[in-house]
Amino acid sequence: MKVIHLSVECFPIAKVGGLADVLGALPKYQRKLGIDASVVMPWYDRKFTQENEFDSIASGSFYQGSELLQYEVLKEANDQLGFPLYLIRIPGKLDREEVYCYPDEADQWLSFQHAFLHWLKADQLTPDLINCHDHHVGLVPFLLKYSHEFQQFAHVKTLFTVHNGQYQGWMNWNKGILLPGFDTWRWGLLDWDGLINPMAAAVKCCDAFSTVSEGYLKELYVDANGLQSLFESESQKGYGIVNGIDTDYWNPQVDTLIDANYDLNTVSKGKLKNKKALCKKYKLDASLPLMSFIGRFATEKGAELLAEIIDQLLGKVKAKMIIFILGSGDQNIQSDLQQVLEKYPKQIAVYFGYNESLAHQVYAATDMLLMPSRVEPCGLNQLYALQYGTIPVVRGIGGLKDTVIDVQEPGGYGIVFPEARVEDAVEGVMRALEIVNQGDLLLEIRDREMKLDFSWHKSAQKYLDLYTKLLN
Ligand code: GLC
Repeated sequence: MKVIHLSVECFPIAKVGGLADVLGALPKYQRKLGIDASVVMPWYDRKFTQENEFDSIASGSFYQGSELLQYEVLKEANDQLGFPLYLIRIPGKLDREEVYCYPDEADQWLSFQHAFLHWLKADQLTPDLINCHDHHVGLVPFLLKYSHEFQQFAHVKTLFTVHNGQYQGWMNWNKGILLPGFDTWRWGLLDWDGLINPMAAAVKCCDAFSTVSEGYLKELYVDANGLQSLFESESQKGYGIVNGIDTDYWNPQVDTLIDANYDLNTVSKGKLKNKKALCKKYKLDASLPLMSFIGRFATEKGAELLAEIIDQLLGKVKAKMIIFILGSGDQNIQSDLQQVLEKYPKQIAVYFGYNESLAHQVYAATDMLLMPSRVEPCGLNQLYALQYGTIPVVRGIGGLKDTVIDVQEPGGYGIVFPEARVEDAVEGVMRALEIVNQGDLLLEIRDREMKLDFSWHKSAQKYLDLYTKLLN
């Protein structure tokens, strides 16, 4: 079974969020099950592309509106990722440093999708199924079926995986002329509320769609940033498959990015060593319980609550603890955090930016990980936390609700609080703190956490079952 994953992020080539982690791991685990899985993504001017070898395997050109675009397909030469990786390079469109936030984002992703299809046709590639990830590649299911140029691929099955329904890739209809020619009377399939909506088009035209947890699938039927009625009406082809984590890479026993390796039997000592190393570097008192936040500063992640949560914990409640924040994003959130940092400099350290190896060190060092998300399709950070014997303190939503069982439940190993509200989060952290301060209980909880299996094995099999169903 030949499956192509289409995405604009993939770890370690280009990572902004969890989407990249999924693309960097899932195909590898799928290949172990015998699926011929590969990844096709845009070329970026980044470390990975500069430092690795690539073979140029195809090239061509097409018109995007009146602009003639030249593309080149580069294949990673040494198969070091555990799956074939193809990068599409288009001078002026797909040759940039960052993934997002360019003013011509719509043109960027249109060019990626068109070039991919053009290559498919020129090289007569024959995938059995194309797994499209998020709205950036959401027009592919439509174009396969209704573009004159690609009619021969109308039979190719498509699975559209929703990692985040909040972003839908909206564009004005004046962008319509940039698409490859299509049956114009089908325009309604592209439209939602007077705009071209690639996420909506994908849900309408794909053979099936999946979400990255079962809980999130149900939530989309009620609230999907305007698309809830569409998700509902297409629900007969909706599936929820929870993400896994790459345990070759996220594993405290072998992780080369942390200070001290540890396992189930050495977790207390190991975590303490990592904590001491982190605290030394950031001038924090390692004898106090450590809580961390890792992620994008976005309202979706509840990040604008952080400063207030911290202020309450350290000010009003006078909790004896230290806090580490690693992330970047919204400038207002960043300046609120800066202010609270200045208020409690001895108890807080902040790293503004993206830093993969520091993230590993923090998972290994921290006692608690806070995730006050408003929306969380799956969430991977809580899974990394569990793998490193860290107590996740999460708001019970989407994938967080599916993967974290509160300590008050039988067999529980985390803290789940009801709403993305300051009071709820503070109470959650205080409950976690109580556990951290009780040696025996902490040991028991860490033991439970580290025995959990959130590797990709199970979920990769679920994808295979779904692909098989679609192909039969
Ligand atoms: C998005 C979601 C996150 C999910 C990730 C990978 O980043 O916000 O919840 O874990 O995609 O599927």
